[in-house]
This record gives sequence, structure tokens and C-alpha cells, in this order.
Amino acid sequence: MWNTWLTRSLDIDLPILGAPMGGRAGGELAGQVTAAGGLGMIGAARYATPEWIDEQLRVIRAAAGESAPLAFGLQTWSLAESPELLDSVLAEAPKLVSLSFGDPAPFVQRCKDAGAVVISQINSVDDLREVEAAGVDAVVAQGGEAGGHTGRIATLPLLQEVLRATELPVLAAGGIGTGAGLAAVLAAGAQGALIGTALLASPETVGPDYAIPALLKARSADTVYTDVFDKARHQPWPTRWFGRALTNDFTARWHDGDGAVPSSGTEEAVSAAYDGTMPEVGVVYAGQAAGLVDAVRPAREVVESIAADAEARLRAVAGVLD
Ligand SMILES: Cc1cc2nc3c(=O)[nH]c(=O)nc-3n(C[C@H](O)[C@H](O)[C@H](O)COP(=O)(O)O)c2cc1C
Repeated sequence: MWNTWLTRSLDIDLPILGAPMGGRAGGELAGQVTAAGGLGMIGAARYATPEWIDEQLRVIRAAAGESAPLAFGLQTWSLAESPELLDSVLAEAPKLVSLSFGDPAPFVQRCKDAGAVVISQINSVDDLREVEAAGVDAVVAQGGEAGGHTGRIATLPLLQEVLRATELPVLAAGGIGTGAGLAAVLAAGAQGALIGTALLASPETVGPDYAIPALLKARSADTVYTDVFDKARHQPWPTRWFGRALTNDFTARWHDGDGAVPSSGTEEAVSAAYDGTMPEVGVVYAGQAAGLVDAVRPAREVVESIAADAEARLRAVAGVLD
């Protein structure tokens, strides 16, 4: 029986959150993670709408029951321009809200007033100080190996730094795709983990048809930290957050930086060359855990097997001490 801050405060069986993944994690995926004993988050990207949220609610209730606990992940930097997204999320009295990428201060109290536990994914100790001041309940140390938008410090050094720097409960995200990864971050002191990439070959994901085959083919080195897809899709992310995606013909052509500086193609040129319907061009955000994903598996099975393997490893690890 798992007993961490995450399982206690959300009243769930497993110390696992299904990561909010804009464009990939809708109601069906979230519902299956929740049915497995974790809590699945619906990823509401900047381009999500209240109508899309309503549709996901219908789906999750069909998958996990009318009283299914709800959890949403929002992109903080874009919330000021689309306040209706937060309104429609909070109207559903979610159990958990993730406010990531940006200062959550203007929104935290409203989430708490709606009864939600509030977490933020952070990429540095400076971010930690910002979200602590905003009053979040817990932080997620999100390492640069994560899929989707993320920072530049890897999960393990960031997690150690954040654990040392705060009294808040700390969760880990980025590169955790098996029970070994979950056991490692829990042993380090994390109270749970967000699983993203490892769920992306689940039939319950949404997104283009080519996304799952591309992920199955990809190995851990086949990702790139880049801004080219944001330019291509006119998503004005602050430049401190690039996104980690699978490499393809489009990144080979347009990603000319080393991931530390913006790529040189103009938004006009890059977007003119982009076609999200074409497998070798369209974006598949995914992290370095891509190398751990080699079969289509239902999300429920993925979550259950990660938890069972982590449990066995943590029970066995006591044996390293005499
Ligand atoms: C396809 C994709 C989309 C994502 N979209 C979001 C998002 O909209 N909001 C957010 O907070 N994080 C987003 N993330 C980051 C995840 O919440 C999480 O940090 C990451 O998946 C964890 O690392 P992993 O992919 O190695 O498991 C996304 C990740 C992926 C793979």
C-alpha cells in the first residue's frame, strides 16, 4: 500500500500522475490513468477551448464514471489571454490543477477556492521561489529530458537541488518510464511522479495517426529540444521554454541551433514549410523515455506495471544495506 504526500492528499492508490499533455492527453487517457489507481490529468494547451474541455469531461465520465476525480494541466503564461479556460476548468471542481510555465500567483487562490490541490512544474530553483511565493501546494521538478515544453536542467540534478531547497512536497517528471525510474525518484525523496512519454503509445491518446508509430520507432537519442514547432504553429511560447520532440525531416531542415538559442528560420518561413498532417513533418512531442516505449499498451496497463515494478524494487532495495 503506497503512502506518500501525493497518495494521501489526493486519496489515490498509486504515487503516479498522468502528465498533462496538450494535444495528446484528453479525457480517455486521463480516465484510464485514474482507473489504474493514479490520477490522470487532462492537458489543456493554449489552443484548447471551453468546448474541448466539455467534450473531454464527457469522455472521462464515460471512461471512469460520473464521479471520476478531475485533474487539469494549464499553461500559465497563456492564461491571461484566455481566462475562460480556467473558468471552465474550475467550474468542474477539479481535485488537482497544474499551473505550469509562468508565475501562477494570479490564479492559485482561485484554484484553491474551487477545492483543488495546486501544483506547478518547475525547471530551476528560481522557478521554485516564484511558485512558493504564489502559494502552490507542491512542486514538480521537471527535467529537460521530459517530452513537450520543459527546461534545460536534467531531472536528477534538478530534483536533488529542489529537494534541498524547499519544505514543499516535491514530485518528479522527465524521463520516468519504468518502475526503475519511479523507484529511483521516490527513493530520492520525491512524493510521486508524472508520467508522460511512457503513456504516448497508448490507444487512449489523441493526436495524429503517425504519432504512435513514430514513437515506437524512436530511440532515446531521437529527440530534440527546439523552438521550431512553436514557430511553425504560431505558438508564442516565452523563449526560455523550448519543447522536446521526436526528430524528423522538419527538425533536420529547420532546427539549426543547439537548443540553447532560438533557431534562425523566421516564423513565416518555418510555418510556410509546416504541415501537421505529414508524418515526416508534423510534430510529435516526446521525451528521452521514448527509448523505453516499444509497444502499444493501454494506459491502465502501463501505469499498473510501473507501480508494481517500482514497489518490488523499493522492497528489494532495503537489501543493499546490511
Ligand atoms: C506531448 C506532450 C505535451 C505536453 N503538454 C504539456 C502541457 O500542455 N502542459 C504541461 O504542463 N506540460 C506538458 N507536457 C509536459 C508533461 O506534463 C510532463 O512534464 C512530461 O511529459 C514528463 O516527462 P516524460 O515525457 O519524460 O514523462 C507535455 C509533454 C508531452 C510529451
